[in-house]
Amino acid sequence: MLNDLLATRVNPDVPSALSGLFVNDPDPRAISFAAGSPNESLFPVAAVKEAFNTAIDTQGAHLFQYQSTQGNPDLRAKLAARIGKWGRVTTTADHVILTVGGQQAIELVAKALLNPGDEVAVEVPTYVGALAALDLYQPTYYGVGLQADGLDLDVLETTLKRHPGIKLLYTVPDFHNPTGITMSVAKRQQLVALANRYDFIILEDSPYRDLGYDQGPLPAIKSFDTEGRVIFVSSLSKILMPALRTGWLVADGDLLAAILKVRQASDLEATGVTHAAINAYLDANDLDAHVTVLKDHYREQCAAMVAALRAYFPDEATFTTPAGGFFDWVTLPESVDVDQLLRTQVMPNAHVSYVPSTNFYPARDVHNGMRLCFSGLTPDVIDAGMHRLGDQMKAAVRGVKPVF
Ligand SMILES: Cc1ncc(COP(=O)(O)O)c(C=O)c1O
Repeated sequence: MLNDLLATRVNPDVPSALSGLFVNDPDPRAISFAAGSPNESLFPVAAVKEAFNTAIDTQGAHLFQYQSTQGNPDLRAKLAARIGKWGRVTTTADHVILTVGGQQAIELVAKALLNPGDEVAVEVPTYVGALAALDLYQPTYYGVGLQADGLDLDVLETTLKRHPGIKLLYTVPDFHNPTGITMSVAKRQQLVALANRYDFIILEDSPYRDLGYDQGPLPAIKSFDTEGRVIFVSSLSKILMPALRTGWLVADGDLLAAILKVRQASDLEATGVTHAAINAYLDANDLDAHVTVLKDHYREQCAAMVAALRAYFPDEATFTTPAGGFFDWVTLPESVDVDQLLRTQVMPNAHVSYVPSTNFYPARDVHNGMRLCFSGLTPDVIDAGMHRLGDQMKAAVRGVKPVF
């Protein structure tokens, strides 16, 4: 009844894109390739604990006072220098806003830019959390497919010609969630040229950019920005710990001011105590050395996943071979509905889970793909789970049930 009083943006008949993503299987044999969580055995708990103590010992009661909407200036300066070094973005602390994860940054940008019905282009498939945030502002979506080197710019340009009102493009250029694909440097440059020509804003979301197994980070799209129309977003969730809830964005001019305005109304400021602790952590530790350790693990886990896909999946399946990040994307023949298969066959029979492709499409209309995440599992567990999953997929492709 009280539903009548809700804003249309929270339409209770349509669940959030983020709800029900991960099915819970209590079976002791359960293996989940669903959640995109970093490997917690690699969290630098002792060093972060020490950093919290250092921050509190140094600043005392003042640390717990209200601070600033934009966030800890020392940490902002360090992040500005980091994206300067690794992403070739020329910026300063004044252009950085610390946010509650990258997720809040995406939501703030949506809130600052979108009126109901506004036209937005997204990669398809795209990050489900971005859909959850954007959905609340009721945009009209246009999906643009991905190629091996990122967004299909020909399709994007055709879409822009047909829909010149598109005002925002959301992209995950580095080790994309959910496909693992990385946008080439040439495309980054061309994308900015398109944004200038067709007058839209680029939201560059790059939480995985440091996690290239064998390559350093590429120049950010923002590094090619000549008109202040790229908003760069990143996060410490994947390279430190997600519960620190620390993301950040880089923006310029009116966009920066607009985002700060909506941010202030939303939560006044982010978690100052945590940010002081992260700043102390960065003073006392070498984040790049920590990232190297992470990359060594994720490289091995990804290799196990790709080897298992080759060994156990049907020939009809195609899959990506990521050069970094947490995810692999598998496409099955169109006749296979992986959503239904998960609930009726794969979970009950094989006790393996993944995220079905429907979740990553704004219209929830593509049923034959799956996101597999390997970041939390050892190579042995990946191999065992993929063997079980591969048998299920072979059976689905052949239209017969496997016997367990
Ligand atoms: C592409 C992408 N953007 C943003 C986020 C949000 O992460 P957080 O809010 O923890 O920074 C995630 C998390 O999985 C992600 O994959």
